[in-house]
Amino acid sequence: MSTKDTVLELFEKNRGFYISGQQIASELNITRTAVWKAVKILQKEGYKIEAVTNRGYCLDKDADVLSVRGIRSRLSEECAGLRPEVFLSVGSTNTLCHEKARSGEAEGYVAVAGAQTAGRGRRGRSFYSPAGTGVYMSLLLRPQGFTGDQVLGLTTMAAVAVSESIEALSGKKAEIKWVNDIFVDGKKVCGILSEALYEVPSGALQCVIVGIGINAYAPEAGFPPEISESAGCVFDKPEVDLKNSLVAEVLNRFMKYYDDPKSDAVYDEYRTRSMVIGKDVKVLKKDSALKAHVLDIDRDCGLVVRYPDGTEEVLNSGEISIRV
Ligand code: BTN
Repeated sequence: MSTKDTVLELFEKNRGFYISGQQIASELNITRTAVWKAVKILQKEGYKIEAVTNRGYCLDKDADVLSVRGIRSRLSEECAGLRPEVFLSVGSTNTLCHEKARSGEAEGYVAVAGAQTAGRGRRGRSFYSPAGTGVYMSLLLRPQGFTGDQVLGLTTMAAVAVSESIEALSGKKAEIKWVNDIFVDGKKVCGILSEALYEVPSGALQCVIVGIGINAYAPEAGFPPEISESAGCVFDKPEVDLKNSLVAEVLNRFMKYYDDPKSDAVYDEYRTRSMVIGKDVKVLKKDSALKAHVLDIDRDCGLVVRYPDGTEEVLNSGEISIRV
């Protein structure tokens, strides 16, 4: 463990209490300068550590900060091969994973960030990723022996894993709006962007990057006007390690499904959580928005809709809007 991590471990054991630089130095057998340097790095990473002359340092007892240790300590056996890395801020965790994948990173790398400066959403949109309130994570996978449908199903696995995790940690009902937006209390709290890289010219699948952005808390200044009506958050107030728990919970549940891609469990759960079956929606096509009634979600998670003229269609990708 690095000096920074051992210092952090000591702070976490003494959350809310002051410990002097000398005490830390003696306990960890390091110099006071090394303590000071570690504190500076941790503060830069976003840890709320107060430094008071003659009292020492104190880690805020309520701070909810992402950390590799906080995530790792909560991972299950299925996640033994995962390698989470935590960033205070990055451009986009998906883009970072693309770069990692291109330079040969193995399956299991997970980029987790507390903020994104260029967060990407579906259909070329940006994804609002402010500091301090959200969890932005991307998982690099190199699926072996998956069929095309099973690869497409990775997004479904993520949607189900996130919904279950939100419910387990917040006690709030999490629903899925086709294709893969997660809603709580009628507001979108999570978006998922899965991207695949293929080899040229063979066309063989190189990797899949599953990117998940969750609004854990409400931003202090509120959401920007363009999403203020539709966006919501999962938790009402910060609690120690809630974000680490959320990341770990999502990974634990996702990897359980990933290890058994033939199982029907994901589809069953996805369908049960769907908030669109039986609803009137608008199917958003390139240049039009068609009214439709959602009949069902089929085994490949295609949306079965009926248009007012009685014709039916199964949508395998695209977007719908629904009045919630
Ligand atoms: C959407 O709602 O359109 C999908 C949003 C996906 C956002 C996540 S945040 C982590 C990962 N990095 C990105 O740049 N995007 C995804």
